[in-house]
Amino acid sequence: MKNFSNSTKLKASNLIQPLFIEEGLKSKKIIKGLGNNYSHTIQSAKQTVASDIKRGVKNFIFFIVPKNKQKKPEDFNFHYQSLSQIKKTFGKRIVMIVDTCLCSVTTDGHCGITHKNKINLKETHKSLGIAADIFIQAGADIIAPSDMMKGTTRYLKSLFKKKKFKTPIMSYSSKFFSSFYGPFRNAAKSSPKKFDRSSYQLPVHDRKKAIQSSLTNAKQGASYLMVKPGITSIDLIRDIKNKTKLPTGAYQVSGEYASLQYLSKNNLGDFEKLYKESLSAIHRAGADFIITYGARDIVKDL
Ligand code: PBG
Repeated sequence: MKNFSNSTKLKASNLIQPLFIEEGLKSKKIIKGLGNNYSHTIQSAKQTVASDIKRGVKNFIFFIVPKNKQKKPEDFNFHYQSLSQIKKTFGKRIVMIVDTCLCSVTTDGHCGITHKNKINLKETHKSLGIAADIFIQAGADIIAPSDMMKGTTRYLKSLFKKKKFKTPIMSYSSKFFSSFYGPFRNAAKSSPKKFDRSSYQLPVHDRKKAIQSSLTNAKQGASYLMVKPGITSIDLIRDIKNKTKLPTGAYQVSGEYASLQYLSKNNLGDFEKLYKESLSAIHRAGADFIITYGARDIVKDL
């Protein structure tokens, strides 16, 4: 993945498959709206990764959903169990990217630690640092903070320096306050309580702020940048790439992918054609990588 192909044609090496592992499941459970995507047990995740590798998928982003929620998350034991078992089984055959956020772990579903309906930045960074450290010990190849709090990349970078970790950071650097995250929040059990995420995610109308957010993350030491959602953010990709010279990708999020599924389920379009067109447009806009729920289904055709 470190050498993303930059040919005009989309390749398997440009795609990243999301994978959810949830604690306490007896068997894998379909995620509503997301086609061939499941919440997995550790065991079923291993089987899926093995079959995905055979199909030609190499890059995965992992979302780990523990059973017990915490006010100030510091216990990431289920994360460690899941990630280390996957890495032990597949080694260098996969690139293991790990979504690093607190929303599946906190009692109120926020991406940071809250105090009186506000984010406590210092405690949030500390908790994210504990998480990233454990993910790296479990074998993470890339840490992907998606919390959108100020200074997270800088905080993690200096922590990694202290600990002599060489692990690169893939920052969700331009992530909007979007209504397209619905199916994901069901799967990640991460819907926020009491207040929404508008105090830390970006306003959709503000192009300048969105680009600035990626530039700031680049300055703080991110190795990969990302816009999110995909289609609604494609106008930003080329500018961010030109300004930072960093590999810049897009996250085609759950609501985008589900909308294509709904069109085809209601006989209003052909899924494969809709899907390929959406990926081509994101790639045309300059995305070096695309996180997408259908990677495993499309790689063979590329
Ligand atoms: C967690 C996170 C979210 C997504 C990825 N990481 C949800 C959110 O910010 O509320 C969304 C992905 C998707 O919808 O596919 N912070």
